[in-house]
Amino acid sequence: MQARLAEQAARLGQGSLWELVAGDPARARDFALSVGPLYANFARQHVDREAMAVLFDIARDAGLPAAMRRLVDGEYVNSTEGRAALHTALRGDLSGAPAARDAHRQASEALARMDARVAAIHADAGITDVVSVGIGGSDLGPRLLVDALALRDAPVRVHFVSNVDASAITRTLAGLDPSRTAGIVISKSFGTQETLLNGAILRDWLGDDARLFAVSANIERAGREFGIAPGRILPMWDWVGGRYSLWSAVGFPIALALGMPAFRELLAGASAFDRHAVEAPLEDNLAAWHALIAVWNRNALGLPTQAVLPYDERLRLLPAYLQQLVMESLGKQARHDGEDAGIDTVPVWWGGVGSDVQHSFFQALHQGSQRVPADFIGVIQPDHPHGASHAILLSNLLAQSEALSNGQPSVDPHRRYPGGRPSTLLLLDALTPSALGHLLALYEHSTYLQAVLWGINAFDQFGVELGKQMATKLLPALNGEMEADDPVTRALLARIRGSR
Ligand code: F6P
Repeated sequence: MQARLAEQAARLGQGSLWELVAGDPARARDFALSVGPLYANFARQHVDREAMAVLFDIARDAGLPAAMRRLVDGEYVNSTEGRAALHTALRGDLSGAPAARDAHRQASEALARMDARVAAIHADAGITDVVSVGIGGSDLGPRLLVDALALRDAPVRVHFVSNVDASAITRTLAGLDPSRTAGIVISKSFGTQETLLNGAILRDWLGDDARLFAVSANIERAGREFGIAPGRILPMWDWVGGRYSLWSAVGFPIALALGMPAFRELLAGASAFDRHAVEAPLEDNLAAWHALIAVWNRNALGLPTQAVLPYDERLRLLPAYLQQLVMESLGKQARHDGEDAGIDTVPVWWGGVGSDVQHSFFQALHQGSQRVPADFIGVIQPDHPHGASHAILLSNLLAQSEALSNGQPSVDPHRRYPGGRPSTLLLLDALTPSALGHLLALYEHSTYLQAVLWGINAFDQFGVELGKQMATKLLPALNGEMEADDPVTRALLARIRGSR
């Protein structure tokens, strides 16, 4: 793959992005796809029709359509852990395969139990607030959805605590009344240090176990060890990866903040995109386009980072959510069989919300020495009455993508804009649960397909374990009960102990 991409990059080498755009007027239309409320335009990517044809050949050779099938049918796509990754079954029943059917049945039962819990909490006028404790995939998705879509007149306010730094939970609980608050401890494993610590603080603060719930795949630990009654534990399963889990009972805080109908609309939106990703031919498949462009930017153009730039305040947490989804999934070098991938894999994903970021890091995007490809994301209809502000927001979105792509010559090098910065434009008609379901499912499937193209496993995360083990080992050293082996750590510990 690398050689074929390098050949295409060399052929395109000297041509500018502006020449590609100006020289092919139909490109703005032909490099665009729509799926329901989601529209994507790839015309400002530094790739031409010939290179796209090669990319689709590469996709066929890598078996992308069959790989999508394997995913939704519940085959063991998580090879290192011998598991399926059936997040698609959480939101629909699009596969006839027995494993997927069974997963969908379990998910529907759990959803019905969650529905009843949501109704009971909403009906209890005494509960005004809910605190959700979890981290990583047990936090970022629900936090994003609640921040983006929570109803202004929501029956309860939902708060999130993730960091082991107890400043987070202290601040959150400070403004709340324990007698009017419910708690949810979300952890697939129920073994995550941060969540167990914060969960225990929350449990003690609440004082009353009747308002404490858990979501976990480890009922034993959540129940017998942590002390939550089985009836108040909603299930998860090992066939759902944490960073793909917001569609399960991990979405309990979402359903509490948005209401159950909106949660079901979110699932339906994602499921509609799933169907597209599985059934659309490669050339019309938005997930395939997005994944192929990502691989093009990484391996043909050699670009080491990728920005995500939502031009909508409600999506300000999207970059953080995508950092886990993409970088925890694709931050690997070993292929399924253990061989080295032999190719650069995930770039560094980063970003921020427009228009704020225009006044912080955009200078570097326009004139810095690194070319940074970007996903711009805009929402056409606002959810507020200030039409003039929204028009200005959208004009900034369009202007930045155009300026980064086309640049502007000047005799003064300080005032010259080189252009040639590639970007994709993603537009949602409105920020509805369904539209957001489409968008997040796009990123999930693009991530998986990139993994297929690189031959790596998108569903494990062994890289996060070493640091966790070392932190456990170092705790006694921090308390002065033993010495650290590493001389730098020893010096740091001496400084910390001396100042305590
Ligand atoms: O540290 C990595 C990780 O395992 C993530 O993959 C996961 O989303 C997060 O920790 C939280 O895990 P859990 O839901 O088991 O508490």
